Amino acid sequence: MINLQPAALEELRRLLKQQTTLPRQVRLSLQAGGCADWTYCLSPVGLEPSPGVDEISLRWGEFDLVVPTAALPQIEGLTIDYAEDLMGGGFRFINPQAVYSCGCGNSFSTVASEPRTDCSGVSSASS
Ligand code: FES
Repeated sequence: MINLQPAALEELRRLLKQQTTLPRQVRLSLQAGGCADWTYCLSPVGLEPSPGVDEISLRWGEFDLVVPTAALPQIEGLTIDYAEDLMGGGFRFINPQAVYSCGCGNSFSTVASEPRTDCSGVSSASS
């Protein structure tokens, strides 16, 4: 189960208004890297699925959130929010599967590992 907070829903709706193909879709995927093992990636998608990637589609009103099935164990219970601060707006990820999240919150690990250095150069460890 993935949860979208109202602010995240509003921002996704705003972004997807530019998408002309229907149904409107946004893909949540994980990319290796960042300051931990995985980085969240939200991107608009067309009708075609990624070649060779098994995906599920979760309906959210007027758009679908498309998620690779292989990523589901790492994001089970994920909450996506959106917030703006002095540095600008961005999606926030609250992942109960993460044992470590980097300083900006965009990268995470699901296994314990050595303390890491995040993008800001500040060493941080899971607690
Ligand atoms: S990806 Fe480096 S601090 Fe978040």
